[in-house]
Amino acid sequence: MSISAIFEKPSERTEDPLRIIIRRPDDWHIHLRDGSMLKAVLPFTAAQFARGIIMPNLSPPVTRVEDAVAYRQRILDARPTESDFQPFMACYLTDHTSADDIERGFVEGVWKAAKLYPAGATTNAHHGVTDVLLINRVLERMERIGMPLLVHSEVTDPDVDIFDREARFLERTMVPLLERYQLLKVVIEHVTTAEGVAIVRDYAPRVAATITPHHLTINRTSLFQGGLRPHLYCLPVAKREEHRLALRSAATSGEASFFIGTDTAPHLRGAKEAACGCAGVFVGATALQTYVQVFDEEGALPRFEAFASLNGAAFYGLPPNAGTIELIKRPSRFSPTIEVDGAEVVVFRGDENLVWSIGNIEK
Ligand code: DOR
Ligand code: ZN
Repeated sequence: MSISAIFEKPSERTEDPLRIIIRRPDDWHIHLRDGSMLKAVLPFTAAQFARGIIMPNLSPPVTRVEDAVAYRQRILDARPTESDFQPFMACYLTDHTSADDIERGFVEGVWKAAKLYPAGATTNAHHGVTDVLLINRVLERMERIGMPLLVHSEVTDPDVDIFDREARFLERTMVPLLERYQLLKVVIEHVTTAEGVAIVRDYAPRVAATITPHHLTINRTSLFQGGLRPHLYCLPVAKREEHRLALRSAATSGEASFFIGTDTAPHLRGAKEAACGCAGVFVGATALQTYVQVFDEEGALPRFEAFASLNGAAFYGLPPNAGTIELIKRPSRFSPTIEVDGAEVVVFRGDENLVWSIGNIEK
């Protein structure tokens, strides 16, 4: 099977939809949670993606090798029986993370990467890093052993406007960090700004970015379309239209530094529709249908396989998946919500007619 996407043009018969077949994709940024939420959401990610990086912002966070081994096992146990989904674990960095522990977990194949949450930046980030200077030895060690640093790139300074927090972090913290550790591999997670895209390009190939389905399809005005839309609220928050367009052009460019990271982040409806609602969009069930629609709209379907299935694996030093997935330009509809223990999680675009559907998966 060739690595490049296979296209079947619509035939004369208009009822034959456009379809593409690509290598099975991976999701390099996933929140699966734990317990009944894990069981409820994992099947949707596992139905779309072969492998993925599991974010460690549980409560308490996944900071130790032993915790990650146990969490990984709970994920494997929660998979539907026919699923071959492979979870990769990321270490939650704190001010007290030890360089030796990081190296041990990486060498043992438990950690695939480490996640830097600036303390307080987002959901369950209060154990995060208060000052990157405090993890200097950890970063030096990661640079030496080739372990990627995944960054939630937002300042936490309450005086900084929320729409400027990514750009300020990039100039104040990210650029000095990239200059200090010149060989460190870094992913700007869920990039939301043109400034972020520009930094990735300046420092490629050792710097990359994940891009979410929602940041490709909504801007900050969408958050207030006809009223307040709590289910579109995530962090980093969606930015102005010019930034969304910069993300679409980066994702569809074919450049090796941009790849899928859905940031699927389920919260119960009650936690979202609240006086102080949680950040996070549950996008795991409609991610691929949304990404492929964006590539179609941008006339970039021939580059979809690189973004979805090749670039991320190459960045992490892994081969692409052996199997394939078929995507069909045929209307589909998911479901507005999924059930978790008698409560609901609202699905991103769950109430819309989707333009694309998922077809056959060959493992
Ligand atoms: O919107 C978000 N939700 N952003 C994050 O960084 C964390 C995530 C979550 O865990 O809910
Ligand atoms: Zn996330």
